Amino acid sequence: MRFEFSGRTAFITGGASGAGFGQAKVFGREGCAVAIADMREDAVVEAVKELRAEGIVAHGVVLDVTDRAAFAAAADEVEAALGPVSMLFGTAGVSIFGPLEKATSDDYDWVMGVNFGGVVNLMQTFVPRMIERKLGGHIVNTASLGCFFTGSGSGIYSASKFAVHGITMAMRDALKGHNIGVSLLAPANIKSNIAESIRTRPARFANSGYEVDEREIAALHEIYSQGMEPEELAGHVKQAILENRFYIIPYPEARPGLEAIFNQALDALPPPDSDLEGQEKRATAMAKYGAARREMDAERYGKARS
Ligand code: NAI
Repeated sequence: MRFEFSGRTAFITGGASGAGFGQAKVFGREGCAVAIADMREDAVVEAVKELRAEGIVAHGVVLDVTDRAAFAAAADEVEAALGPVSMLFGTAGVSIFGPLEKATSDDYDWVMGVNFGGVVNLMQTFVPRMIERKLGGHIVNTASLGCFFTGSGSGIYSASKFAVHGITMAMRDALKGHNIGVSLLAPANIKSNIAESIRTRPARFANSGYEVDEREIAALHEIYSQGMEPEELAGHVKQAILENRFYIIPYPEARPGLEAIFNQALDALPPPDSDLEGQEKRATAMAKYGAARREMDAERYGKARS
């Protein structure tokens, strides 16, 4: 059955800029009512104004995605204004780069809190509501190509995106019986304002091991100014939703990096016909556990798991 966008409400974190704003426009034009949730109030006001000028039904909420209590309040506010949310876009994200061994705990807490914690809080807030209402829907979380491989300079950022990759894959499995599709967007370069993300870093995470000055921000802008247009990227997201496809990686230049990392993993495996006895023993143990797990889950949670 074709996924119907029209009449749905979409909740987009980081929706006031870059990739999130592109999603707001593209899904708004498809007939979704869109809620923009972003921590920068002026940007939220501007974004909503621009969407409404196009005739898109839009509502803005000022929200820091790391704030769980505020998340629940934002969800209530949006649903009162636009109706039940059945599409989630976990798009808010920040980045910081530099030698990993220089990072402080504040650097970890900020980036993990927004990039991974924000996605978790979004799904924790809305998934139970979506399941209960039985309207189906779709969730798209934004990771990065850096959710597959990384180096020192982007270590924390990538770790947060590896985590987004993992939880999104697991949520796809969890929701498959609920008519709720789940996709992972893993972009390379996007034309956006992420070079400025240091400006949204809260004072409580002020102790950084990195110096992010205007020179660095300007250098980052140079890269992102050459990135994919957010609306073009959101068009790829739309197509993936229609196909209910998990991975959204619309960048041909990603191939060598992905091939290298997957080949590295495959090259670490012994030949398939080695250790046959061990293979058999471990497979039997897993199958036994799987059967026991299904029985326990059915008893405890009233569900039969595959
Ligand atoms: P952007 O900076 O233009 O947009 C991100 C938005 O998130 C901003 O409006 C910002 O105010 C908001 N935000 C930041 N912290 C927040 C918080 N705690 N609570 C609520 N909102 C918050 O950046 P962009 O590039 O559009 O980023 C979107 C996503 O794409 C991010 O998850 C980013 O990691 C990812 N990404 C970006 C790439 C790029 O080349 N720009 C490449 C790969 C992934």
